[in-house]
Amino acid sequence: MTPTPDPTDAIQPGMAVVLGGTGGIGAALVVGLQAQGFEVLALGRRTQPALDYATESTVAACAQHVADHLAQTGLPLQRLIVATGFLHGDTVSGQHAEPERSWQHLDADGLQHNFLINAIGPALVMRHFLPLLPRQGRCVAAFLSARVGSIGDNALGGWYAYRASKAALNQLVHTAAIELARRNKAALCVALHPGTVDTGLSQPFAKSGLQVRSAAEAASDLLAVLDALPAGSSGQFFDHKGLPVPW
Ligand SMILES: NC(=O)c1ccc[n+]([C@@H]2O[C@H](COP(=O)([O-])OP(=O)(O)OC[C@H]3O[C@@H](n4cnc5c(N)ncnc54)[C@H](OP(=O)(O)O)[C@@H]3O)[C@@H](O)[C@H]2O)c1
Repeated sequence: MTPTPDPTDAIQPGMAVVLGGTGGIGAALVVGLQAQGFEVLALGRRTQPALDYATESTVAACAQHVADHLAQTGLPLQRLIVATGFLHGDTVSGQHAEPERSWQHLDADGLQHNFLINAIGPALVMRHFLPLLPRQGRCVAAFLSARVGSIGDNALGGWYAYRASKAALNQLVHTAAIELARRNKAALCVALHPGTVDTGLSQPFAKSGLQVRSAAEAASDLLAVLDALPAGSSGQFFDHKGLPVPW
C-alpha cells in the first residue's frame, strides 16, 4: 500500500522555534531553518520576550508568546530546537565555573549551574513547549546534548558537571519521548550531539587534532539529521551524522 503523504510534513514547512537561537549553533540553526522555508521564532536571554532559565517564569512567558503566534498564523509547530547550554562562564551566583579536571575541583555552585542550564531549563521547556506540538503529523523536538554526556562513551573522565548534566538531559529526552508518543505517534523527541563546533562554548577547549566545524556546517548537518529521522527513532540520541550515540 502506498503511504498517504502527511500534509504537515516538511513539504509544507510551518513554524520552527529555536531556544538559545542567539547562541553560536542556535543562530546558525535559525538561518538554516529559514532557508528551508520555516517561519522561525528565536528566543534567548537578549530577545523580547527573554528566555532565562535562571527565572522560571520566563519559560512559561516564552511558551505563551509562541502559542499566541501559532494561533495567529494557524501554522503547526514542526521544529522545536533547544540549543541552550553551559560549559564555562559565570554562574547565577556570580562565580566563575570551568569544567573540572579532577574531583578536587567539584563544587556545588558549578554543579548547580550546569544542571540548571543543561537539564532543569530544558525540562521546563518540555513542560511548557511540548504541549504546543501538533497532535497529528510529523513534528520534531530536538535537544542539543553532547557526546561527553554519554556514560558508555566516557573513557577520559573529567568535566563532571557538564557530563552529568547532559546525561540528565538525555534521560529527560528519553522520558519525554515516551509521553509525547501518547499524544502524537508521528512526533519525535531526540537528543543531538552537534560535534565540536567553533563557538564561545567550545573555544577554550578546542585542542588541535579535534575536528572543529563551523556553526553553519553543524546546523546544516543537524537539520539534515532531523529531516531524515525515521519513524520509531524518537527517544534516541544521534550525532551530527545521524549515527546513534550510546547512552
Ligand atoms: N560548541 C560545541 O563544540 C558543542 C559540542 C557539543 C555540544 N554542544 C552543545 O550545543 C549547544 C549549543 O552550544 P553552542 O556551542 O552554540 O554554545 P553558545 O554559543 O555558548 O550558546 C549557548 C546558548 O545557551 C544559552 N544560555 C546560556 N545560559 C542561559 C540561561 N541562563 N537561560 C537561557 N539560555 C541560556 C545562551 O543564551 P544567550 O545567547 O542569551 O547567551 C546561548 O544561546 C549546547 O547545548 C552545547 O552543550 C556544543
